[in-house]
Amino acid sequence: MSEQPALAVATHGLTKTFGAQVVVDNLDLVVPYGAVYGFLGPNGSGKTTTIRMILGLIEPTAGDRELLGHDRPIAALPRIGALVEGPAFHPYLSGRANLVRLDAVDATADPRTTRRRVDAALDRVGLMAAAAKTYRQYSLGMRQRLAIAAALLAPRDLLVLDEPTNGLDPQGTREVRNLIASLAADGATVVVSSHLLSEIEQICSHLGVISAGTMVAQGSVEEIRARQQTTAVVHTADPEQAARVLSEQGLTQIESGRDTARGVADDDHPPEQLVAALVAAGVGVRGFALERPSLEDLFVELTGEGFDVAH
Ligand SMILES: Nc1ncnc2c1ncn2[C@@H]1O[C@H](COP(=O)(O)OP(=O)(O)O)[C@@H](O)[C@H]1O
Ligand SMILES: [Mg+2]
Repeated sequence: MSEQPALAVATHGLTKTFGAQVVVDNLDLVVPYGAVYGFLGPNGSGKTTTIRMILGLIEPTAGDRELLGHDRPIAALPRIGALVEGPAFHPYLSGRANLVRLDAVDATADPRTTRRRVDAALDRVGLMAAAAKTYRQYSLGMRQRLAIAAALLAPRDLLVLDEPTNGLDPQGTREVRNLIASLAADGATVVVSSHLLSEIEQICSHLGVISAGTMVAQGSVEEIRARQQTTAVVHTADPEQAARVLSEQGLTQIESGRDTARGVADDDHPPEQLVAALVAAGVGVRGFALERPSLEDLFVELTGEGFDVAH
């Protein structure tokens, strides 16, 4: 029997109900070690509730979860850095003083080395130069960086970041994205949620998409892309004949228009073979393309709405 791949986070049938509302419904999260797992879903789809359950901040109604090999979140917590709706920072204290305060609350942290840990975290998120400014002087991007720095005070194997790019301008979003990518490059597993695919797509190795508390797609980005149907599009003056050939070749969902014919192809239909068959049948091929919908198209389809819904 082949060994199961090691998972940093796994949930089984994770469920949360608030009153009559099933907010998270039987969720099986699969996050391999070393992944940057994009946890995507529209606002209100249950991302924060799921993350709170994973971290042990709230108890599931049903189901269970494993974190870094432990089945109780509390046992794994020292190795997890989390950002969930931002920790409460003191507005009149500097960024550095805020981190010193947070470090002091951590019973596992040695007080003699606080300064070193705080400076390392500030340096990691690029806030060294602004360390002495008060929190209230920080831009939104700086506040998110400080929240990430707080998650980095101790060495972490797993980072769970709930909407770290929410409300940031494009520059701030890029900075947070680069920071996450560099943390992952240093070996951390990252779970990062967003309601906007475009904000995190480029750094994710894996995606989990939820809609109304239910997982609708999950896997590596390559797996999800490969599941997308490919449509062969033939530009020709003879679309009826082209459609016939595509049908004979075993393509499905055949359509013909004024000067195009199209059909859904799978891996058994290499484009070389399709073009050869069209030419052999006497179809004048002006153009031939394989079209695959973007991930964004897929998510809109899966979640039944645009990702950028009203807040
Ligand atoms: N403590 C709570 N009590 C009642 N309903 C809640 C509570 N927390 C979240 N919800 C509801 O659960 C749903 C999912 O919320 P949430 O997990 O915050 O979604 P997301 O993070 O994807 O935006 C929403 O309809 C929200 O109103
Ligand atoms: Mg949320």
